[in-house]
Amino acid sequence: MSERPIPWWAPKIGDGEYALVRDVLASDYLNEGEVTTRFEREIATLTGAKHAVATTSGTTALFLALAALGIGHGDEVIVPDLTFIASANAVKLTGATPVLADVDRATLNLCPEALERAITPRTRAIMPVHVSGRAADLAAIGTVAKAHGIPIVEDAAEALTSRAGGKSLGTIGVAGCLSFSPNKTITTGQGGMVLTDDDALHGRLRELKDHGRPVRGTGGDDVHHSVGFNFKLTNLQAAVGLGQLAYLRERLDRQKRNYELYARGLAELDGLTLPGFNLTGGEAPLWTDAIVERRDALDRFLAARRMHCRRFWFPLHTQAPYRQPDDRFPGAMWAGPRALWLPSAFTLTDQDVECVVAAVREFLKSAN
Ligand SMILES: Cc1ncc(COP(=O)(O)O)c(C=O)c1O
Repeated sequence: MSERPIPWWAPKIGDGEYALVRDVLASDYLNEGEVTTRFEREIATLTGAKHAVATTSGTTALFLALAALGIGHGDEVIVPDLTFIASANAVKLTGATPVLADVDRATLNLCPEALERAITPRTRAIMPVHVSGRAADLAAIGTVAKAHGIPIVEDAAEALTSRAGGKSLGTIGVAGCLSFSPNKTITTGQGGMVLTDDDALHGRLRELKDHGRPVRGTGGDDVHHSVGFNFKLTNLQAAVGLGQLAYLRERLDRQKRNYELYARGLAELDGLTLPGFNLTGGEAPLWTDAIVERRDALDRFLAARRMHCRRFWFPLHTQAPYRQPDDRFPGAMWAGPRALWLPSAFTLTDQDVECVVAAVREFLKSAN
């Protein structure tokens, strides 16, 4: 039993955010403005993206990226079957059809062979998801994408600063999307960002997120080039994000440390494996995920000892809006019910993680 509850995740707000938010309040300019622009620049610098466009959420970032590519009714976008439902919903919001493709059992990410099989003449984009911060196989996915001339829009909601092949995830496809919801390394409450190096796409993103205006408007005699939406991230939210950036490095280090302690403490066990992270390749763990034979029993065992996990999403094809036969998705059907996020908060101590490791080992010993 842990002395205090060990959370699966816990966001944290520090003094810096209070000061920055107070400045915005004192300025009387709460709307999207210069503070948002600063936040965008910081994220662009951090990721090496040429452009970063703030939005109201990761979901609207994905929608915006697809819409800016001209994707809509009659089009198809390939999405992995094991992801947060936002990935598919963002496609749906454009009017296009999300085409689900199976995932790889070892990585829990989009399976390149399943991707290839899912391509049709209507496929207009591929949306790999970097689950838990682990890179989807972008080399193999890129080869398929290139062969068919289809752009990649990365769902990097869980992968801020995570890297593969020397580049930040989210900057490898034509566009990549981040989320700043409360269970991410840094949060703005809700918020998202589209990353792109493409100048023309950047222009479209800016217009689309603000009612078709090419520049920040007055709300009066503005020139609107196209139909657009309102996905502005306010100065207030951006102030929280800027404050949070001050802790980014230490949080990433702690998340990595959590994973390393789990990897060391849970190596070579019957009934549990960790998909793991390529740390030397630059992957940045957000949450440590595990594949567990008796997942629900382990989850209950740990919860009874005040150690909280999160069970993986149900495969999207089992959810009402996207229902399809199970036999099309053997990878997701195998991995989904076995996958569990262990306590992964950046607020954990070594002692917390060691406590979880000991409890997991105790469970596995009694189960085997
Ligand atoms: C993989 C994935 N895609 C998309 C999203 C949607 O982001 P948001 O909640 O900011 O809309 C999330 C996170 O919440 C996510 O984990």
